[in-house]
Amino acid sequence: MKIKILTLFKEMFIPFLETSIIKRAILNRLVEVEVIDLRQYSFDKHHHVDDTPYGGGKGMVIKVDIVKEAIDSNISSKTKVLLTSPRGKTYDQKKAIELSNEEEILIICGHYEGFDERVLNYVDEEISIGDYVLTGGELAAMVIADSIIRLQKNVLSEGSYEDDSFQTGLLEYPQFTRPYDFLGNKVPDVLVNGNHEEIRKYRLYESLKITYLRRPDLLLNYKFNDEEKKMLERIKKETLQNN
Ligand code: ADE
Repeated sequence: MKIKILTLFKEMFIPFLETSIIKRAILNRLVEVEVIDLRQYSFDKHHHVDDTPYGGGKGMVIKVDIVKEAIDSNISSKTKVLLTSPRGKTYDQKKAIELSNEEEILIICGHYEGFDERVLNYVDEEISIGDYVLTGGELAAMVIADSIIRLQKNVLSEGSYEDDSFQTGLLEYPQFTRPYDFLGNKVPDVLVNGNHEEIRKYRLYESLKITYLRRPDLLLNYKFNDEEKKMLERIKKETLQNN
């Protein structure tokens, strides 16, 4: 898969692309990432990319002609074009999985007061990473790219993301490592006894419980099997007793 990122701030991507799992994925050619400077598509000698807004007001607006030129120069019929924007649909793991199956995506990083609205004619989707406003779309583009890259084949070791929060539809169960006893706070016995069936049940129960307590909205669309239905009943009873 190839991910192209169109930005005015290429340098922001250097540490992201040169660290840890993302760096290794690129070196091993499991994904290709190209960061492209929007300014190179400017038509004037001062490399301006923005102009004042029609109707007045503060700030500058990125020009549609320049963005269209940048898009046209970097896409083929296979490319999915995304624009990061707080006005977009909220990004989630389902969208990450969907995008991870694309052959090529181009992420345009929003900036300043925004883009000329007509840019949307050349974009497939606007994506927001959450209900808050960033100074620019670069961090959003990194979030999107990161979540897609880790889903590419062989980037993580086998089975690493099957239990991810959201991948299963549930939040992830708690994990522990040594020391067994930290300041009197011990690791649950079930994890130490080596009974794999008991460990599986414990983890499923804890996943259901943390999801029920923190993100009950995720359970609305969750397909429960019989074991999970019974566990949820137990969790509900225990929660009532404890409150
Ligand atoms: N640009 C500014 N805020 C953003 C957000 N929440 N998501 C995506 N792009 C943005």
